[in-house]
Amino acid sequence: MEFQPTSSFTFVLFGGTGDLSMRKILPALYEAHRAGMLAASGKIVAVARHEEDRDGYLRWVNEHVKAHVAKSGVDENAWSSFVDRIEYVKLDLGKAEDFVKLRDAMQDLPGTRVFYLATGPSLFVPICRALASVDLNENARIVLEKPLGYDLRSSNAINDAVGEIFAEEQIYRIDHYLGKEPVQNLLALRFGNALFEPLWRREWVESIQITIAEELGVEARGDFYDNTGALRDMVQNHLLQLLSIVAMEPPHSMDSDSVRDEKLRVLRALKQIDPRDISKVAVRGQYHAGVIRGTSVPAYATEPGVKTDSATETFVALKVEIENWRWAGVPFFLRTGKRLADRVAEIVVNFRAVPHSALGSSALRPGANRLVIRLQPNETIRLYCLAKKPGEGMNLSSVHLDLAFDQFFKEGQMEAYQRLLLDVIHGRLALFVRRDEQEAAWKWVEPILNEWAASGKPKPYAAGTWGPAAASAMLAQHDTCWLEEEN
Ligand code: BG6
Repeated sequence: MEFQPTSSFTFVLFGGTGDLSMRKILPALYEAHRAGMLAASGKIVAVARHEEDRDGYLRWVNEHVKAHVAKSGVDENAWSSFVDRIEYVKLDLGKAEDFVKLRDAMQDLPGTRVFYLATGPSLFVPICRALASVDLNENARIVLEKPLGYDLRSSNAINDAVGEIFAEEQIYRIDHYLGKEPVQNLLALRFGNALFEPLWRREWVESIQITIAEELGVEARGDFYDNTGALRDMVQNHLLQLLSIVAMEPPHSMDSDSVRDEKLRVLRALKQIDPRDISKVAVRGQYHAGVIRGTSVPAYATEPGVKTDSATETFVALKVEIENWRWAGVPFFLRTGKRLADRVAEIVVNFRAVPHSALGSSALRPGANRLVIRLQPNETIRLYCLAKKPGEGMNLSSVHLDLAFDQFFKEGQMEAYQRLLLDVIHGRLALFVRRDEQEAAWKWVEPILNEWAASGKPKPYAAGTWGPAAASAMLAQHDTCWLEEEN
């Protein structure tokens, strides 16, 4: 594999003993280390309250992080040299003197400084201010995890306060969906080939579906999730980001602002939903008890941390329109939910059927011309077309051309976090969300949030199904259905 190892860096990880550090960030750094992608002199400084000293922290890392590393298992030599990179600072966010301690610990450490805030959003501003109080904000990069705020107002408040301390080019707002390999490949497919461009528009596309379905419930995050819901947790960020990648105009280059400018144009062109029409274009659901792959699972309202009369949605389906020449009138159906029948994330582009079929009615079947970009599991891009069935007569059947990444490219696959962390160290902003994009996304979802907060409750659906029937009815009004309903 060709790659450019990073230049030297000091990567400071706030929330060093948190869930995200354990499951995603430290494993991703380990993978980058093992693959030789990190500068030899680069250091990781974990910051947390719980462990007393470096030895204690390294014990925690050995006990908790190893289990989340590489499906292929841990390479003990690589692991031990990875652990050598880690320093630890015990820090109480409430104590200004602890930041002096952090500054002193970083004094002789090399390279670009990255501060990764793997903490709750309520700590973003206090941490940034404390960093500035000891001048650690200069020549540094800061990474903010989602959720960044609860609505437009609170997100603006965080962005304003962080913006007083860090310039926009120093701020990396992470949306891990943008780091997934097939999302990158969608960009390559669209902008590296002339083939799709003429077809990628209203004249040839009938509708687009974007689904992120999960089998998992809220796990140990009931408290957080009950105050958040699927619209904030998944739609405002991941789904709208995917939508903007699918629908954007070809950018002038892949530099940060060219890509982000084009995504922003899409977000600003989303048709505002009239509050009176919300029930026609937005469905919310909440899972009840059910069975997933033979195992009974409890209702959302009985999960730990969730209010028994909770009106929080665990499922959302939306019909979205984009008001520009390329997409006017093409419905984009977005859907996400917890405790659904399957774990799948995919983008389905349904092209129009032939205007007249000389080959009989089977050539007019929906789904004959279709591109499916599967983000997970089994990352693939498939182009479905019609072909003649062997034998007598002209009977058509759907076949597909397959781009199975793991077969074409045997090595070099990277987890989203690994790619994004390397981008931060390299200083590449294209896959991070700019403030104006985030604002546009909040502005668009707010009328739905407000309407749902003011009235009604989510529709129930049994865990292990595809959500409330209303989500199917919404598509039926457009003479279409969700992909899994076709057969
Ligand atoms: C996170 C959400 O951003 O994305 C979670 O907060 C969700 O609720 C997760 O489970 C899904 O990510 P992935 O990569 O597992 O599909």
